[in-house]
Amino acid sequence: MPSATENGANGVSNHGIPTSCPSCPSPLKYSGSLDHLPYFEISPIIGREYPTVKVTDILNAPNSEELIRDFAVVISERGVVFFRDQDDLNIADQKKFCDLVGKFSGRPAENGLHVHPIYRDPGNLKLPDGSTDENIYVINSEAQKKIYKTMAGRAATEPRDLSREWHSDSTFETVPSDFSFLKMEETPPHGGDTLWCSGYEIYDRMSPSFRSYLETLTATCAQPVFRSAAQAGGYEVMSPRGSPLNVGDEFAPSHPVVRTNRVTGWKAIFAGVGLHVTKINDVYNYEDQVIREYVMRLITRNHDCIARMKWTRNAAAIWNNSCVWHAATPDTHLVEGNRVGVRASSIGEVPYLDPNSKSRREALGIPPF
Ligand SMILES: [Fe+2]
Repeated sequence: MPSATENGANGVSNHGIPTSCPSCPSPLKYSGSLDHLPYFEISPIIGREYPTVKVTDILNAPNSEELIRDFAVVISERGVVFFRDQDDLNIADQKKFCDLVGKFSGRPAENGLHVHPIYRDPGNLKLPDGSTDENIYVINSEAQKKIYKTMAGRAATEPRDLSREWHSDSTFETVPSDFSFLKMEETPPHGGDTLWCSGYEIYDRMSPSFRSYLETLTATCAQPVFRSAAQAGGYEVMSPRGSPLNVGDEFAPSHPVVRTNRVTGWKAIFAGVGLHVTKINDVYNYEDQVIREYVMRLITRNHDCIARMKWTRNAAAIWNNSCVWHAATPDTHLVEGNRVGVRASSIGEVPYLDPNSKSRREALGIPPF
């Protein structure tokens, strides 16, 4: 059976999917510069924790470029990396590390940190020191509780379906995020865990014929809430947002359901499911529903594909959005204590599917089951 993406011309497949990132390097090789640092894997399939690494030491090291490039490879292979006790990591250095992980791993030169579309909204949360930063997104559970209290008719009549929390950052942009870096400045004694699921492994759990079919598909990732919020607030959405291509207020790009990770060269399910995915293109509505429910079923019924972070104060996580989805756990209303996080995101490349790329298991020689 011919590959679904063969016979395309000008770097685009027959199905309208880019087949490469012309300005990105070939997949990167790990050089070994991090071998002296203690770590443990979160699970065989996804996640790694470096319990003693200080990100500031990495930034200040004489060979920081080599170290950061190797971190980009590890993050992209393992999906997500955890750090603890980053008490000395300020906002400027958090932004710098996230930006350099993207830059040194071959992000197109014109791209940088994402700018949140509705940064001008007066309701946006401020940083713990009272300032704001257009490259930093703030999460705050106490503020969230107050917002919910003011929303009429929010009383739940049945348990929520938490599967709706799964997403990949900034997929509403033409050029979405490659790396996101979240630090938890405050955390309650328990609750608010974040989960990451491997899109590489979800791809590997599918039959070859079904994978080939999904490789022909794109999905619309529409997020009209930003335009409506800006219109209601009487301000313009921010432009550009980390890439000259992320401009305007449409927020409805189409992305491939399967994409190649530019750092590893491995295939992952990408726009097959998630909060920002609104429609699988060019299929009937019921088929759209069936495909997205199937991908979600694989996520929710294969917990060996998931890494879970129990946050501690000043812990941080950095992940590659092109190969993992993540989900917050909305249970912090059940405990005393605030959960305050600050996140920076790098903008990567226009998602592509290289027809010659392999799955993670194929590349590593791991048997399919
Ligand atoms: Fe997110």
